[in-house]
Amino acid sequence: VAGCFERGSLAGLHLLINAGPTREAIDPVRYISNHSSGKMGFALAEAAAEAGARVTLVAGPVNLPTPPRVQRVDVVSAEDMLHACQNALPADVFIASAAVADYRPAHCADSKLKKDPHSGDGMTLSLVRNPDILATLSSPPAGQARPWCVGFAAETNEVLSYAQGKLQRKNLDLIIANDVSQPGIGFNSDDNAVTLIDRSLQQHSLPHASKQKLARQIIAFIAEQLARQPS
Ligand code: CTP
Ligand code: CA
Repeated sequence: VAGCFERGSLAGLHLLINAGPTREAIDPVRYISNHSSGKMGFALAEAAAEAGARVTLVAGPVNLPTPPRVQRVDVVSAEDMLHACQNALPADVFIASAAVADYRPAHCADSKLKKDPHSGDGMTLSLVRNPDILATLSSPPAGQARPWCVGFAAETNEVLSYAQGKLQRKNLDLIIANDVSQPGIGFNSDDNAVTLIDRSLQQHSLPHASKQKLARQIIAFIAEQLARQPS
């Protein structure tokens, strides 16, 4: 009921945001993951709630407090994250800020793996592809509402052309590109600098700033784009 009285550029809308890394189990004590801190996604959730949206934040394993008035769902693996995102639908907007592990071990051992005395110095781990959460939600089955979809592209080289390729391949409304080869921004840092690329391939640069400040700018940009859409 409280939602009915929210004010702000996103009042009345449900934003689904995922954040952080995923962990893909190798055995009960080991996993594959990455260095994502989840800070950008949490900052976006906070900014979206400030703008009056109802916010569901699906978080991988991160060490961050839940922003005020945000509904948080904690998950571990990419498959769990996909299911939690699907369970949170329908959403007006989906922002995929999570650093989803692209692959997971083909099998998770039931008990702790031991070193094989016969295998010499090496060990081969067989991996399989994880589902693409963003591509799944951006192209729903017929009859199911499609959220307005925002992706992230963290790249080390050819940043804008890779990001543009992901925008088109994943059927997105907006992609947020950042160059993670630059020191002090992006992955696991408090600051970022990004370029937004919209569906018409127009670019909008947001210079180096704190993730909180950038999150507010990104949320304002999304609200503007939604306001322009024919409803
Ligand atoms: N993404 C996703 N599910 C995956 C992989 C990526 O939802 N299994 C989303 C990310 O949350 C991000 C966007 O897709 O919003 C781009 O992620 P990125 O890792 O840059 O792209 P990939 O398609 O995985 O391509 P690659 O890692 O090979 O560059
Ligand atoms: Ca990837």
